[in-house]
Amino acid sequence: MPETSSDRTKVRSHDKEFAPFISAEELDAAIKRLALEVRTAYMGKRPLFVGVLNGAYYFAARLLEAMPELECEITFVKVASYIGTSSSGNVTQLIGLHERMEERHVVVLEDIVDTGNTVAHILDALKEHHPASVAIATMLFKPEAYRHDLPIAHVALRIPNAFVIGSGLDHDGLCRNLPGIWRIIDEHA
Ligand code: IMP
Repeated sequence: MPETSSDRTKVRSHDKEFAPFISAEELDAAIKRLALEVRTAYMGKRPLFVGVLNGAYYFAARLLEAMPELECEITFVKVASYIGTSSSGNVTQLIGLHERMEERHVVVLEDIVDTGNTVAHILDALKEHHPASVAIATMLFKPEAYRHDLPIAHVALRIPNAFVIGSGLDHDGLCRNLPGIWRIIDEHA
């Protein structure tokens, strides 16, 4: 059975080790700064936030509690990917989307944008519901790994291209509950 153990300087999860990278205080300060930006952009527009489970629960909670003046709604979806029978290949389905999107301003909340494949698929799926606008807000963004042209409108923190865990981000299901962000220790370094 996998075990997670932690001391102050290192965390072990499965066969990997992680070191502290961004403190919980630093992360929450960055999310609060982002909340100001999002609040300014959407004041009076009653946006619909769409959190992508499982990882975005932490970001969604911290972001929304930092802008209580903004009239808004939030819902959560899960992304299911499968290989479609058509030539389009990978098909992404959003599970749990019951809200009407027509004429709504939609903001997708992601824990992390890496290659951008996931948000690209989510945006394609959302656009079929004809929202007034769709934008992405993410807790973490890895610019060096990003492979798309879609603008990532709202970013709390940009990070280097390394695997990270904590604050909703997992390593094979574990470590979402670690405070702050922890970065993998490169065994080849
Ligand atoms: P993308 O499609 O490559 O942008 O990856 C997005 C998804 O991959 C995220 O929603 C995460 O679930 C996962 N992911 C990407 N990078 C990391 C990481 O460093 N730690 C944990 N999960 C990650």
